[in-house]
Amino acid sequence: MGPGTLSEILKKIPVIKSPEVLVGLEIPDDAGVYRLNEETALIQTVDFFTPVVDDPYLFGQIAAANALSDIYAMGGRPLTAMNIVCFPTSCLDIRVLGEILAGGAEMVRRSGAVILGGHTVEDPEPKYGLSVTGICHPDRIITNQGARPGDLLVLTKPLGTGVLITAVKGGVISDSDARPAYDAMARLNKTASECMQEQGVRGATDITGFGFLGHAYEMAIGSQCTFEVWANQMPWLPQARDMAAMGLIPAGAYVNQSYLKGKVEFFGVVKDDQIDLLSDPQTSGGLLIAISEHKAQGLLNGLRSRGEEGWVVGSVSPLGNHYINVYSK
Ligand code: CO
Ligand code: CO
Ligand code: CO
Repeated sequence: MGPGTLSEILKKIPVIKSPEVLVGLEIPDDAGVYRLNEETALIQTVDFFTPVVDDPYLFGQIAAANALSDIYAMGGRPLTAMNIVCFPTSCLDIRVLGEILAGGAEMVRRSGAVILGGHTVEDPEPKYGLSVTGICHPDRIITNQGARPGDLLVLTKPLGTGVLITAVKGGVISDSDARPAYDAMARLNKTASECMQEQGVRGATDITGFGFLGHAYEMAIGSQCTFEVWANQMPWLPQARDMAAMGLIPAGAYVNQSYLKGKVEFFGVVKDDQIDLLSDPQTSGGLLIAISEHKAQGLLNGLRSRGEEGWVVGSVSPLGNHYINVYSK
């Protein structure tokens, strides 16, 4: 998926076909999956971006958690990671880069993976992230195509990181006000992924740049179902609704909204700040999990008993007129 014309350009490039490609370029998903043998499939992903916070160590943590997340969203276990670095060595203290890399390394350590190497490019604007390789059983990949009518939708992190980052950058709130957002972004989706794997979930994604609605839309298309989204059941980060109501909306939220125009139907009075937050680009957001109704309570219990959170934020219906319906309930 993707707003703009890049996806159209990419569609014109011939795809190299192979029977071992289980998830590739033709299917929008979190990561690519390549079957090695009957028991093992490789999961590969890459993600890097410019700093979202001032603290370089925290930025490293967030960027690494975000990159690792795509492996977790596919139901995989990360094995190896490579650092991807852009840095202006001539005008920024190299110790800043050291802090970024240390933050990233700490998250890779927590994930149980190892860093094998990396590559640095001289660039006026710093950027950091990881290329990550993970594994899973070829029969147990969790994809955007695995949602079924009757499933409930569970979200594992509150929304609003883009709005809160914008509010900090605008000087409206302080770093300490934004702490819950920082903690959420620097938290691995590892435990949440393990909990959904224990329940035998087939459909999930992680919420990142396209926002909740954009990623829900990808899953709804992939699964050929309609996602019913309950706006008043959504978990929001502290102060996110106030900041959104004040208009501290990142540009990406408007790009996401214009991409989804006509694709999402609204029922009842869904407040503007809720609509903005539902399309707010998330950094290192939570997992969106489609799970059969009788297993949902088990998932929520599993998440809570292991110090994670989970909210039922909607349900899955047979495909109707729109891929996404948003209700004020
Ligand atoms: Co993803
Ligand atoms: Co990604
Ligand atoms: Co996926």
